Amino acid sequence: MIFSWNGKNEAIRIAKIPSTGTLRPCKEESKNWDKTENLYIEGDNLEVLKLLQKSYHNKVKMIYIDPPYNTGKDFVYKDNFKDNIKNYMGKTGQVDSKGNKLSTNSESNGRYHSDWLNMMYPRLKLARNLLKDDGVIFISIDDNEVENLLKICREIFGEDNFIANIIWQKRTSPDARKKLSNGHEYILSFAKNIEYFEKAFNLLALTEDDIKNYRNIDNDPRGPWVSTDFGAQGYKPNQMYKILTPAGKEYSPSEGRCWRNIEDVYKKLLKEGRMWFGKDSCGVPRKKIYLKEKEGKTSWTWWSNSEVGHTQEATQQLAELLGKKTIFDYSKPIRLLKRMVQISTKENSIILDFFSGSATTAHAVMQLNAEDGGNRKHIMVQLPEPTDKKSEANKAEYKNICEIGKERIRRAGEKILKDNKDKEGIENLDIGFKVFKLKRSE
Ligand SMILES: C[S@@+](CC[C@H](N)C(=O)[O-])C[C@H]1O[C@@H](n2cnc3c(N)ncnc32)[C@H](O)[C@@H]1O
Repeated sequence: MIFSWNGKNEAIRIAKIPSTGTLRPCKEESKNWDKTENLYIEGDNLEVLKLLQKSYHNKVKMIYIDPPYNTGKDFVYKDNFKDNIKNYMGKTGQVDSKGNKLSTNSESNGRYHSDWLNMMYPRLKLARNLLKDDGVIFISIDDNEVENLLKICREIFGEDNFIANIIWQKRTSPDARKKLSNGHEYILSFAKNIEYFEKAFNLLALTEDDIKNYRNIDNDPRGPWVSTDFGAQGYKPNQMYKILTPAGKEYSPSEGRCWRNIEDVYKKLLKEGRMWFGKDSCGVPRKKIYLKEKEGKTSWTWWSNSEVGHTQEATQQLAELLGKKTIFDYSKPIRLLKRMVQISTKENSIILDFFSGSATTAHAVMQLNAEDGGNRKHIMVQLPEPTDKKSEANKAEYKNICEIGKERIRRAGEKILKDNKDKEGIENLDIGFKVFKLKRSE
């Protein structure tokens, strides 16, 4: 069934209207202008996505976005179909803003969900054009709009291109003021084309703890190994043979199960010494998996805070860079972004985040490049949304969110260089960025 809401036709239409804006370079706020391939674009992302259509069509390997969740407290940008650039200048305080104040989308508004959908739909539609054939989009979201987001993504990206709705455990402990405390968010992911994407997806690198599990108690010339169950779920007639262990004990598959491979494969594994029957050679058959043959490990759709970080960690990471007080409330942990970049990109990929906030994505891209020698490039897009006059950010001279994002990238880049100063080739790490600002075309 087609998903419909109030204003959908208009949302489809505005995605097609060409932008009347231009992107002006701003060298003085950039870093390493002549060398860098990273971009920081200040502006309303609808206009910016329109302006990127030509030069970045089919070029972006991974898009991550963390849009407003429509909690009733966050600000949802309203496009003005007649003159979006004028609307944008007013909303961001860049021209006289009579009656143009930024406001939150409150639940008492009868168009609460449709306002959010009208904001998201054209942006996602334009974003899809930028993805490469093996590209992927990850979208952070919570219970407020997950259902609607899934519906519009199915429509825009196609049902078959759904990858997963990942659960991220964002808290470390329940909120004691509540009886049932919310501890997770979602990361919805879609491929541009699932067929290409399957091949392009990367395994996760093994951690030191994973590696510790590999041992070599029988001095196997292939080196350290772990053993895994040789049984499998279900009944397959040609996988139901008897196995005689070297010490002479006979095993058949247990109730409701069969062996993992057919008998010929089993015999080959046995001959090559890839089976394990315990130290006394009469244990249940197990298959050896060798460390040197392991390319990495499969990630699953449950991302725990111990693996990818939590919100408290994100706040601390930002405070370490920008000062002790909370400068930005909604940042994500670097490890979370690093995970997404690691599983979905290659050495030279372009990564786009068009709701970039404090620029965690740029930080994670530089960090991962430093770790694995990659040369991924990032494009951040952020509205120069003014910070609250009474906020710590404003007191610290960050008058809008772009100021926070740019300063974070500057400081994060320097820190990464310092932390990795002894690493070979680190001097080639691209920690610069070119700033462009959305302006009205003359
Ligand atoms: C939840 S925050 C993103 C946080 C980010 N992931 C981080 O780790 O810091 C969403 C951001 O989107 C920005 N935003 C909202 N509407 C926008 C628009 N139309 N164009 C560009 N940015 C927008 C907001 O100003 C806010 O900074």
